[in-house]
Amino acid sequence: MSNIRNRKHADGRIKNGQKRDEDGIQNDGFRWSLFFKMAIFIIVVLLPSCILAFILLIDSPIEAEISKYRTPEPPQLTGPLATNDVLSSHCERLFEGELKGPESIAIKSGYLYTGTADGKILQLNLEQKTIDTIATLGKPPCGKQIDEERSGRPLGVRFDVNGNLIVLDAYFGMYKINVTSRDVHQLFPCSWKIKGQELNLLNGLDIASDGVIYFTDSSRFSRKDFILDDLEGKPHGSFAFVFFSFITSGRLLKYDPSKNKTEVICRGLYFANGVQLSEDNSYVLVSETPKAKIQKCYISGPKRGQLETFAENLPGMPDDIRPSGSGGYWVAMGSCRDADRFNIIHRLQQYPWIRNQLAKTQKTFIKFALPRCGLVIEVDKEGKVIRSLHDRYGETVSYVSTIEEYHGYLYTGSFVTSFIGKVKISK
Ligand SMILES: *[C@@H]1O[C@H](CO)[C@@H](O)[C@H](O)[C@H]1NC(C)=O
Ligand SMILES: *[C@@H]1O[C@H](CO)[C@@H](O)[C@H](O)[C@H]1NC(C)=O
Repeated sequence: MSNIRNRKHADGRIKNGQKRDEDGIQNDGFRWSLFFKMAIFIIVVLLPSCILAFILLIDSPIEAEISKYRTPEPPQLTGPLATNDVLSSHCERLFEGELKGPESIAIKSGYLYTGTADGKILQLNLEQKTIDTIATLGKPPCGKQIDEERSGRPLGVRFDVNGNLIVLDAYFGMYKINVTSRDVHQLFPCSWKIKGQELNLLNGLDIASDGVIYFTDSSRFSRKDFILDDLEGKPHGSFAFVFFSFITSGRLLKYDPSKNKTEVICRGLYFANGVQLSEDNSYVLVSETPKAKIQKCYISGPKRGQLETFAENLPGMPDDIRPSGSGGYWVAMGSCRDADRFNIIHRLQQYPWIRNQLAKTQKTFIKFALPRCGLVIEVDKEGKVIRSLHDRYGETVSYVSTIEEYHGYLYTGSFVTSFIGKVKISK
């Protein structure tokens, strides 16, 4: 009897044990599947919702509206705009890796001068291929976009009538540099208020025969956030009232060194960028980069202060403008906007809400905001395109922000790449 009972007990114990194991396996399986379901829920639903909610809740740094302007459908790449491989196959890269982001260039007596992303003013010997730093305007650390406010970001460079290099630093102001003695002299700081508004993003310049300097103050945003200006797509108050004025930016100003005086000539421009005086010094050409347009701003005569279209619906986003050997002008295109390249700035003109959201993520967004390509065009005195030089996908040259014709060659610079381009110009 006792044996039987024991066996029963033993059986029972064994059975109970088995039952417990089975329950355990079932419980673990249940827990694992619950865990996986929750993980998937968190990854697929909760996390993206939180990120989205966070993006929607934070304030946008811009106040985009439906654009007051709408760039027309981009021009067909035919005739003088027909694509070619001039920049992709025939352009030589000089000083590759030796300089960072030569945004603007000026060439004189065999030397090319430029300001770089690490806050330096460089002198490049085109013959001997040597580089010399002639000035540093800011303080280290240098080189990253976040350091710019401290390191400075020299943009426009040109020679004045006396042979001094005039430099505009986006953050610091206007400088005069003697390239022989390397004396650096600040003409004025960016904190200088003109019509109640500080200078904010000094960019392009040109110098008239009387020594007066015409220059642009591009945006209410700082240089490192320039993409926000494109996304916002506003000229910022072309209007001023008696008691208050909107923040005005996108201005063309003039600086008279003999009087140390600055005044506004034209305002209400969309990211006023590169500048070039007309031959008779009666107007200044100004690139309105996001609008794919070049304006004439009259500086003398009865039309003084008035804007007039010089060239519009360009195949790219214009930056620097320089005289060409044929009597017209070269225009550097920071990016292209032809029909089969997606230029987000232009495609989203009528979608301010999306632009406001994108502006919150601009650091990553900037990488794909502008199509990568190399494009330079030549226009005649009336603004008609007469030829174009291409690197369709930016294989050799891309994001061209400046050009200069010198001894039968065209030299290019870019705000992002790390070389100077050199290409022979056919007649
Ligand atoms: C620049 O400095 C050199 C050497 O000190 C001097 O000879 C020259 O006149 C200066 N140039 C200008 C434009 O002042
Ligand atoms: C011009 O005036 C500004 C503002 O008063 C001043 O900061 C700057 O140093 C002056 N520049 C020259 C060259 O005198």
